[in-house]
Amino acid sequence: EKGGYDYFMLKEIAEQPKAVADTLLGRIDRAGELTLDEVRIPDSVLREVDKVVIVACGTAYHAGMIAKYAIEHWTRIPCETELASEFRYRDPILDSRTLVIAVSQSGETMDTLMALRHAREQGARVLAICNTNGSTIPRESDAVLYTHAGPEVAVASTKAFLTQLVACYLVALYLGQVRGTKWGDEIGELVRELSEASAWVEDVLGTMEPVRELARGLADRNTVLFLGRHVGFPVALEGALKLKELAYMHAEGFAAGELKHGPIALIEEGVPVVVVVPSPRGRSVLHDKIVSNIQEIRARGALTIVVAERGDTAVVPYADHLVEVPETPTLLQPLVATVPLQVFACELATARGNEVDQPRNLAKSVTVE
Ligand code: F6R
Repeated sequence: EKGGYDYFMLKEIAEQPKAVADTLLGRIDRAGELTLDEVRIPDSVLREVDKVVIVACGTAYHAGMIAKYAIEHWTRIPCETELASEFRYRDPILDSRTLVIAVSQSGETMDTLMALRHAREQGARVLAICNTNGSTIPRESDAVLYTHAGPEVAVASTKAFLTQLVACYLVALYLGQVRGTKWGDEIGELVRELSEASAWVEDVLGTMEPVRELARGLADRNTVLFLGRHVGFPVALEGALKLKELAYMHAEGFAAGELKHGPIALIEEGVPVVVVVPSPRGRSVLHDKIVSNIQEIRARGALTIVVAERGDTAVVPYADHLVEVPETPTLLQPLVATVPLQVFACELATARGNEVDQPRNLAKSVTVE
């Protein structure tokens, strides 16, 4: 049932273009408008929302972090993303105008469930983004937007993550659509671009052999660091999480701007650093800053592995290894930038002789707090 692949994880990575397409299917009408009929929260309520709070764990939390950038930029609604396990213990401020989004592949994660129960008790509306039909989290929510990744068997989440991103973007754009925010005019164009996401993922998957080779060459290392800015920061965290859980290596993700506030002390000769470079389109300041970060770490001996948009010539002189991803709008780049990091972690785990689908100490669904 692994469809000719050695591991479920490899199969699930390869299924991502379809998972992304299936999650978009039927949600964009011919006129390019979003139709999220399942979201049974009335538009009148969504128009009144004055705060969005996203709760999730692990990989789903990283999807939620990326959603925050999209929601605030496209809708101008204040949005915070919080680890479900921390959320209810700090007595968060919630009321009937708060939209809580609970993101979960399994729909059974106890921390996320407890967070949404707490939110509903305070009168907030809860929308679940979930991959498992009829699971507890959607059953206990006001509404659910299902991701259509299909069953995910490997413990490390891959295709579910990309579809969580798609669902988050859909919700963000839908909020923009019903509220007619100042980004309203842009929404149509963004929806059109989002509908190309499956092709982008297919494209990046076709270029992964050098990433595998690179991973095999790093199998005896102890540490890999990941840097990103803007939506590249959660991508860096996700790359580090994949490497920890699969390769059992010390891996950390940092916001590139934080380097000089501490982490740069970790840079020494030969340490591999993966840098996620934001697409240069419309974000030149962000892009320039990360290019100087790459220069800084390289001057201190780091082995730079640079994930950048195809044709981004500015990074070439500083990249020991260049991983090119297709051109996308900045906010959508995580859909492609995450893929090489999944492949990298999977190949490193294989090279280190680890059990790829069943990493030690981990369970697919965490039903205890
Ligand atoms: C990482 C991973 C976990 C899950 C987390 C939340 O690869 O799989 O970090 O993302 O346990 O699980 P769900 O999404 O089922 O709530």
